[in-house]
Amino acid sequence: MNHTFHLPDSSVFLGPLAETLPAWLRNRQYEQFFIITDRNTHAVCSGCLQLPGAVEFVVGGIGHAGTAGFVPEQLKTLQTCEQIWAAMLGARLDRRALVINLGGGVISDMGGFCAATYKRGLDFVQLPTSLLAMTDAAIGGKLGIDFHGVKNAIGVFKNPVAVFADPDFLKSLPARELRSGFAEIIKHALIGDPALWQKIQSLHPESIADGAALSAASWIDLLEASISVKTQVVTLDPHEHGIRALLNFGHTFGHAIESYFLPTADPLTHGEAVAMGMLCEALPSDGAGAVFPFEQDAEILRIIPGFFPCRPIPDSAFPAIWDLMLQDKKNKSGVVRLALPDAEPFSMRLQETSRADVERRLRRYNVLLAAAGEK
Ligand code: GLY
Repeated sequence: MNHTFHLPDSSVFLGPLAETLPAWLRNRQYEQFFIITDRNTHAVCSGCLQLPGAVEFVVGGIGHAGTAGFVPEQLKTLQTCEQIWAAMLGARLDRRALVINLGGGVISDMGGFCAATYKRGLDFVQLPTSLLAMTDAAIGGKLGIDFHGVKNAIGVFKNPVAVFADPDFLKSLPARELRSGFAEIIKHALIGDPALWQKIQSLHPESIADGAALSAASWIDLLEASISVKTQVVTLDPHEHGIRALLNFGHTFGHAIESYFLPTADPLTHGEAVAMGMLCEALPSDGAGAVFPFEQDAEILRIIPGFFPCRPIPDSAFPAIWDLMLQDKKNKSGVVRLALPDAEPFSMRLQETSRADVERRLRRYNVLLAAAGEK
């Protein structure tokens, strides 16, 4: 069954692309189509959009077949944008064109940024192919690229005219990638949907690790609930002056943990890092008792390690993790704040943190993991 979510200047369609996209295009007058995709999605979905005359730009070049939605974050750069803008000029795109971003989070962020800035902005749609992009990255108009080693340092807010999420793409994702997107679904449940959180608690972790284990209808249910939370938050606060900060739950620690492990032999996926980050942020910082969303629901500390292979964080990493947190662009005047879900859905508690608090939380996180391992 198809579902539609409406934002003030955008819509999100959940259902088979073969139905949702042609129906939407039927009432539009676009004269040119420019598809930005990645080599793996190109191989999985070549010609699947049925748009005669469309020009395609494949980030990373056309390569071997693989899994939809994979472009390394290292390609989310100004150099790649330059190639995309050059191809747009080469195709003589003008404002009657529609840019179609077909891929995972990197394609949504970078393709959207290129469309939003080319000739002062072309209409673009997001066709997310990864779970992470379907539930989070493709929705809400945060667009950007990495610059001088800083993630998403250059970017703009601009909503796509529409987002088309087709759960069929999930079948092509490996277990680790599915789990990565699932962390954002958990986040959305914890910040705004107690019923979704209940449902997550009833799932077997293996059912997420294997895309085929959950029925298509179950995936649609999870996506529907998760996208609903995301679209509600973005509608309330499109430019992150307030409640949208709640979408960063788990990400203040998570981004720093992800960056810390990135140059090691065993980097984390974004979702694994966010899962670890949610644990660190949900843990009590001062021994005064934990504040958990939804009436002290301490289940978060049991459920998350069940789904994610959380790893201990060595004491030697603590200073680097604090330094990375200080670099986050969301800090104001050098103060690091955690945006934590409060007792009511869609309510937020901002908590200032410090180097000492961060180290305490990391230590408690390690203790929690050790205790979980002993059970
Ligand atoms: N992914 C967080 C946000 O859209 O604000």
